[in-house]
Amino acid sequence: MAIRNFSIFGALLLGGCLTFHPDPANTDPQVLHVYKSPVCTCCQRWVQHARRERYTVTVSNVVDMDSVRHELGVPRYAESCHIAVIGGYFISGHVPAEDISRLLAEHPNIAGLAVPGMPVGPPGMEGPDAKPYSVLAIQKDGNYEVFADHQPSPEQNGAVGPSADNAHKYLK
Ligand code: CU
Ligand code: CU
Repeated sequence: MAIRNFSIFGALLLGGCLTFHPDPANTDPQVLHVYKSPVCTCCQRWVQHARRERYTVTVSNVVDMDSVRHELGVPRYAESCHIAVIGGYFISGHVPAEDISRLLAEHPNIAGLAVPGMPVGPPGMEGPDAKPYSVLAIQKDGNYEVFADHQPSPEQNGAVGPSADNAHKYLK
């Protein structure tokens, strides 16, 4: 299972040409470690959201996000722009901090959470065309269940538009 492969992940990172050095075993439930493209603005807004919600966030700017997704075992259908790791779980995309807190409190035996793709509505993707969206619980066998349904987040002051057009290029 991907979550158990963190040491392999770490070895690949150390042995590869990637220039970041994460805590690959990040089982710390207080620190969100985020992998994102250096030029992804919606990712940065999501980092700001997590910090506002009192998470300590560390960031690795990564060019080859596909490798990170693969190494963390994120299923294709669950992919998004950025990936975070916390408490041994992956967090794919614009998952609200409240769901991460619930995940850590309930500690289910799953691989992680995801808001697949780049819907307009969740934190970091606020905008005038925002719609309800779901957070998925990604099971270790690759299937999913709905973890939470949400109404769109209120627009942040100073947020730079929905940028969905701009953002989709960070998706595979
Ligand atoms: Cu995004
Ligand atoms: Cu992102």
